Amino acid sequence: MQCRDNARPNLMKQEQNDRLLRALRRRETDCTPVWIMRQAGRYLPEYRAARARAGDFLTLCKTPELACEVTLQPLRRFSLDAAILFSDILTIPDAMGLGLSIEEGAGPRFARPLRSHSDIEKLPQIEPAEDLAYVMRAARLVRRELGGHAPLIGFGGSPWTLAAYMVEGGGSRDFRRAKGLLHSRPDSAHLLLEKLSAALAAYLAAQAEAGAQALMIFDTWGGQLSTADYVEFSRDYLRRVIAALKADPAAAKTPLVVFTKGGGNWLELIADTGCDAVGLDWSVPIGEARRRIGGRVALQGNLDPALLHAPREKIESEARRILAEFGDGPGHVFNLGHGIDPNTDPDKVAHLVDVVHRLSGF
Ligand code: CP3
Repeated sequence: MQCRDNARPNLMKQEQNDRLLRALRRRETDCTPVWIMRQAGRYLPEYRAARARAGDFLTLCKTPELACEVTLQPLRRFSLDAAILFSDILTIPDAMGLGLSIEEGAGPRFARPLRSHSDIEKLPQIEPAEDLAYVMRAARLVRRELGGHAPLIGFGGSPWTLAAYMVEGGGSRDFRRAKGLLHSRPDSAHLLLEKLSAALAAYLAAQAEAGAQALMIFDTWGGQLSTADYVEFSRDYLRRVIAALKADPAAAKTPLVVFTKGGGNWLELIADTGCDAVGLDWSVPIGEARRRIGGRVALQGNLDPALLHAPREKIESEARRILAEFGDGPGHVFNLGHGIDPNTDPDKVAHLVDVVHRLSGF
């Protein structure tokens, strides 16, 4: 199958766009760049069709031509300023042998979750260029197809967020087992987080090498921790990963975003990880975030995804409010505060993207 949809314009013939990279480096842009977390996904009928053709989500991820096709789908519909590689944060534990499956409605599950210190000791160190070669092949394909139309974002899950899934065996409401491990066997927790930090740094560096022009770390479950635990079990490992990336020839100059969902109390701690930009959920006013850390890093966010169910005028007024709250000057990447709801009407996304561009400069 070709990584191209002939019914839609060829992306390569369109304008070249580096707004996202400029904003992440806090340089001037002609208007505020915008992309949407989980922009390729179930709210798009063409995504559901591609997933049906693949048979399931993981086959979609593991077939580079299909992953490339799905990555580009939202860019064919909307004037987005970035592509994000279609994959998942759980590719690392899958490559470590935990046996990932993702079923609609049930969420991610591991056949072999971590249940003991010796399970953690036995976890193999992965070689991303080989063990996750399908991700790198997809990244190379996407870069070729994009031809500079928009930059490509690569990503991974934070060590703590990956550890939480691996210990729980899937998603969880209270993270009883994962948090239990932090407090009952901190030695096991630190060993696991060390192994995951090494894997994540190597994985992100390999994505940069394969063509990712910006990187993002999703610390989705960081906000579940107390401040002291956040510093010890999440923030310190984010720092370690970023330090390794800044020493890597391919990744050193690649701007990196850290997104800790629920991390509004810790903006200064997050900005001090060495990242180039901080992702904001919708709980922190972006103006306050800018006053606190906006002199040091760029900011990405922070529209509540639920606003995409609101009438068009409300979407426009909220986008206007966020842009006004950020204020003048560079360093803002507009986005949602978390992933898009699968029930969203794609026309509302088109409206949001156009409104952000129009209100901020076009
Ligand atoms: O943003 C993008 O378009 C890129 C694709 C992307 C996916 N997952 C595709 C996906 C990204 C960036 C992720 C990251 C991810 N995966 C995170 C961090 C971001 C966040 O939302 O906090 C997390 C926690 C995961 C783990 C995971 N994978 C979950 C919780 C789910 C959803 C399960 C469900 O049924 O809703 C997945 C599966 C997944 N990853 C889907 C997509 C499009 C849905 C799979 C499907 O098609 O049914």
